[in-house]
Amino acid sequence: MARSPSGAALVTLRTGTLDDVPALVALGHAVVPPTYGPIDAAYARRMLDEWWVPARFEASLAVNAHLVAEVGAEVVAMASFGRLSRSHRDFPHVTGDREVMWKLYVHPDHQGIGIGSRLLSEVEAMVEGDQLWLEVVDGNEQAFAFYRAHGFAEVERVTDREWPDDVWLRKPLAKGL
Ligand SMILES: CC(C)(COP(=O)(O)OP(=O)(O)OC[C@H]1O[C@@H](n2cnc3c(N)ncnc32)[C@H](O)[C@@H]1OP(=O)(O)O)[C@@H](O)C(=O)NCCC(=O)NCCS
Repeated sequence: MARSPSGAALVTLRTGTLDDVPALVALGHAVVPPTYGPIDAAYARRMLDEWWVPARFEASLAVNAHLVAEVGAEVVAMASFGRLSRSHRDFPHVTGDREVMWKLYVHPDHQGIGIGSRLLSEVEAMVEGDQLWLEVVDGNEQAFAFYRAHGFAEVERVTDREWPDDVWLRKPLAKGL
């Protein structure tokens, strides 16, 4: 994997806006195929077509918080999070509400230098409650290892006959301590 010559120190984090939508779509095209293609190429295609298109980001920016990481003027990573009750998806297995990190994606050329960890820390500091939830696709071992190392544990698994399982992870946050 290529490493950024600039290092994580030159990465800046800021709030994402509608102006970032083209860069976010481009980021998806760089990171989704190598992430999900080896698990299930059709799933990778579906992810791009469904979740990395301008209309989805415009809808998400209206209800979720977005962070982008930049090196110079290039968006190299992003995270988004918000309440499950405000999602456009249905979650029949969930009762009550959850704070969910919906996306955490780092461009392949910039992975492994601490950007994902920085974004995750920022998200954890910004959520209101004392738990953070997220979904990982069964087979995304790099992400599982990353999240386990950052204190997340598997809670439940949503099985779909057609696609890989969604595995829900949760981390207790030490808010107010
Ligand atoms: C999972 C992901 C968000 C992690 O972000 P990242 O910036 O690569 O992660 P970091 O550099 O902050 O931390 C990676 C950890 O793995 C280690 N690591 C070592 N070699 C690595 C490598 N080649 N690539 C990535 N991480 C490596 C790092 O040292 C670090 O461990 P540490 O915290 O104990 O030091 C990122 O790899 C990614 O975007 N993956 C593809 C998309 C994805 O799966 N997103 C999650 C969807 S649920």
